[in-house]
Amino acid sequence: MAAERSFDAYRLPEEHEAIREAVREVCVAKVAPHAAEADETGEFPKASYDALRAADFHAPHIPEEYGGAGADALATAIVIEEVARACASSSLIPAVNKLGTMPLLLAGSEELKRRYLPPVASGEAMFSYCLSEPEAGSDAASMTTRAVRDGDHWVLNGVKRWITNAGVSEFYTVFAVTDPAARSRGISAFVVEKSDPGVSFGAPEKKLGIKGSPTREVYLDNVRIPADRMIGAEGTGFATAMQTLDHTRVTIAAQAVGIAQGALDYAKGYVAERKQFGKAVAEFQGVQFMLADMGMKLEAARQLTYAAAGRSERGDADLTYFGAAAKCFASDAAMEITTDAVQLLGGYGYTRDYPVERMMRDAKITQIYEGTNQVQRIVMARQLLKD
Ligand code: CAA
Repeated sequence: MAAERSFDAYRLPEEHEAIREAVREVCVAKVAPHAAEADETGEFPKASYDALRAADFHAPHIPEEYGGAGADALATAIVIEEVARACASSSLIPAVNKLGTMPLLLAGSEELKRRYLPPVASGEAMFSYCLSEPEAGSDAASMTTRAVRDGDHWVLNGVKRWITNAGVSEFYTVFAVTDPAARSRGISAFVVEKSDPGVSFGAPEKKLGIKGSPTREVYLDNVRIPADRMIGAEGTGFATAMQTLDHTRVTIAAQAVGIAQGALDYAKGYVAERKQFGKAVAEFQGVQFMLADMGMKLEAARQLTYAAAGRSERGDADLTYFGAAAKCFASDAAMEITTDAVQLLGGYGYTRDYPVERMMRDAKITQIYEGTNQVQRIVMARQLLKD
């Protein structure tokens, strides 16, 4: 009997391993060489985008019926992991394209999907996700961006903050209050275009890491959009935002795994070469113990991430728990592993001449965005106590 294919199986299906090999090849040749420069200059790595686009890895999750590569959740996670291994900033290209379009895929009308997904699939446009605001971060439901109905249109006003790829993306999923009395049930989701009159962007944030991925405020000043740009029914926006994050926290877990793998790979090479006290540093047991812990944590994070990806693909009821657990565990592991990688390189690890300090700075954001790890623990605890 043929073995049943499962995303939880220890060995991945062959096609997923083939995708990993293909992405790694592109990333080693065409993404990694720009990673340090993107970090130094804070410029969007256009050359990396072009390389990912040419190989169809820029938005792999878009279904084939909308012109996409039709990658499942595990394949998408592997793409993001492999890009992050080379350049965390670039990994936000496939990750945020998934985040921005997930509300459409989950709740959008067929017409909206046909209009907005093909340009993302072809790489002509990117899609960002606008949930957070200056005063509404962890408490997303306290947002104040307002959408008011005016005939066949909605008029949006407000400020969205921490928007990844803002200004570069052509399209934005914007969550706004349509009924202030109803709190989370009075929030609706809309597609807003960069070219809509009244849309503008703040100055790029000066960040610790992921510097090649622009993060800016999005200003909505009397942005008048046709009513058919609403995603799903009025009042369902918050639930769509949360369902989206259930799926995409898996992608942040994958990003964390990739960053950690990049740091471990570099540190392994370094300790094998570096000699002190007349022998390779890798020959010291203390160093070996550190490497072993790094490898062990990384593999545990990867397995939990892939288990969550399986749940994302199947839409299992326990995805909320697994998405939060994978994101939280993998990002904490990535922070530890990258910090240890810096330690293994000693003084060299602390300089920008070596990539591990960049990886350590990049890892930090994975503990913060798409919900802080404190929020992930709230989400997990609520799910545990519900049962
Ligand atoms: N799926 C479907 N519905 C959900 C849901 C889920 N996973 N989670 C909550 N809901 C629904 C609830 O059922 C509830 O609906 P009803 O009122 O109909 O019962 C409603 O949403 C409100 O739920 P809660 O009472 O649980 O909401 P809350 O106000 O207590 O907030 C929270 C819960 C988990 C803390 C949530 O606010 C949260 O996740 N905060 C973190 C926000 C976040 O992750 N922001 C990330 C921004 S994006 C980003 O970072 C992108 C980037 O840069 C790359």
